[in-house]
Amino acid sequence: MTDTHHLIEKAKQVLITNDRGGYTVPTDKLYPFQWNWDSAITALGWMQIDEPRAWQEIEMLIKGQWPNGMIPHIVFHEEVDTYFPGPSVWGVDLPVKTTSISQPPVLASIVNMMYEASTDKAIATDRALKLLPALMKYHLWWYRDRDPENTGLVVSYHPWESGMDNSPAWDKSLAAVPPATWQYQRKDTDHIDAEERPKAFEYDRFVYLVDFFRQADFDADTLYRTCPYRMYDIGIISILHKATADLIALAEAVLMPAPSNSPNLSRLPADEHINTSAPTSEHPSVLSLALTSELMASLNELKQRYALTQQNIGKLWHVPSNTFQSQDAITQAFSHELTTGTLLPLLAGFGDKTQKQHMQHLLQTWLQLKPYGLSSTHPKSNEFEAKRYWRGPIWVHVNWLIAMGAELQGFEDEAKAIKNSAKALIEQNGYFEYFDCESGVGCGGDTFSWTAAVSLHWLLTQKAEKK
Ligand code: GLC
Repeated sequence: MTDTHHLIEKAKQVLITNDRGGYTVPTDKLYPFQWNWDSAITALGWMQIDEPRAWQEIEMLIKGQWPNGMIPHIVFHEEVDTYFPGPSVWGVDLPVKTTSISQPPVLASIVNMMYEASTDKAIATDRALKLLPALMKYHLWWYRDRDPENTGLVVSYHPWESGMDNSPAWDKSLAAVPPATWQYQRKDTDHIDAEERPKAFEYDRFVYLVDFFRQADFDADTLYRTCPYRMYDIGIISILHKATADLIALAEAVLMPAPSNSPNLSRLPADEHINTSAPTSEHPSVLSLALTSELMASLNELKQRYALTQQNIGKLWHVPSNTFQSQDAITQAFSHELTTGTLLPLLAGFGDKTQKQHMQHLLQTWLQLKPYGLSSTHPKSNEFEAKRYWRGPIWVHVNWLIAMGAELQGFEDEAKAIKNSAKALIEQNGYFEYFDCESGVGCGGDTFSWTAAVSLHWLLTQKAEKK
């Protein structure tokens, strides 16, 4: 067995081990539920093993979607007591228990990739068509609830929403949030060395915000006006922008197929709505006339929102550092930190030629500083810590997103350098949650789904080489 073959088999085994019957946990015990961006990325790994199972991953995630369109950051499909804060702290009174915030919305980009990579186009079209209303509703939720004043920039309410929990980019804004007012018991440090995890100072504020959302009854307007943490997160904004472009492309592909393709839009009476259950060959994709026109209206709205972000993203260009930066929406202060979030605009295609050159230069110099790719925080930052979660370690899935962005901008050499480093990292250290950016040693949870999935999709398998 070659080394690559062995690594592929090992990666598949990680996903199979973490499968909980239709959805995949990031890792046992530490993260025992379904996480939003983890699951989306994990579905790409499933595509290499079992395509219907990959679609099912997304369908399970969407079971947690709120009536307002939000797809939560965690869906608590079953009760497990190895994680804090669980459903009772979040206090969401819906049939499927979830948290009350979202996560970087990479989902629609992934569904589009799955659609494009699928070997059975009929099944993929059917599954994508059924997911489309939920995906559109999700994106519109971001734009309507998180940018009600049409600024072009959505706002985020919790560092957990960024997916980069204790990134130094949030330090100053988080410090302005009061601490939780009750004694709670963390569980993450039962599983992982506290030296690698966020500190108590941050957790106290993370928990305060969870309480705040519940006490505000999750009311969109109240949160927009009064949440004590409001961030224009350049990572979320970039991922959302790219995902909206991908969603528009997907919608156009499945709603308006070329005349030679089989028609997906068999019209049914107006009350016949689609559902998201698994399709069967006896149940072909069909959309009602009413739903079709609703989707077309959503598509137009998404195009307008996309254009608005494109017009206004310049507000997040921070002249002194020549980078796009996150900005506190309350104080208007830029975060002044170089984190991997500052390179995600490459994925969205933000910036003019000069701004892109600045980002390319930053990418090149950053890559030279450490042996295994992009550290989550720039090694020269005062806040850099090689092992502590989002303050330095390497996260393979973020390196993959940035490599994709670099490739989209024609920065082929940098994209290749990121890929080679990531490959060396997993070959030497396996499928950990994240990696010490100096030694490459695996940190956090072992047998971690997104690292294995990114390996299957990007680093190791043939299909990943195809564009
Ligand atoms: C942590 C990470 C977040 C991830 C989750 C599950 O909270 O910061 O990005 O989604 O764990 O892996």
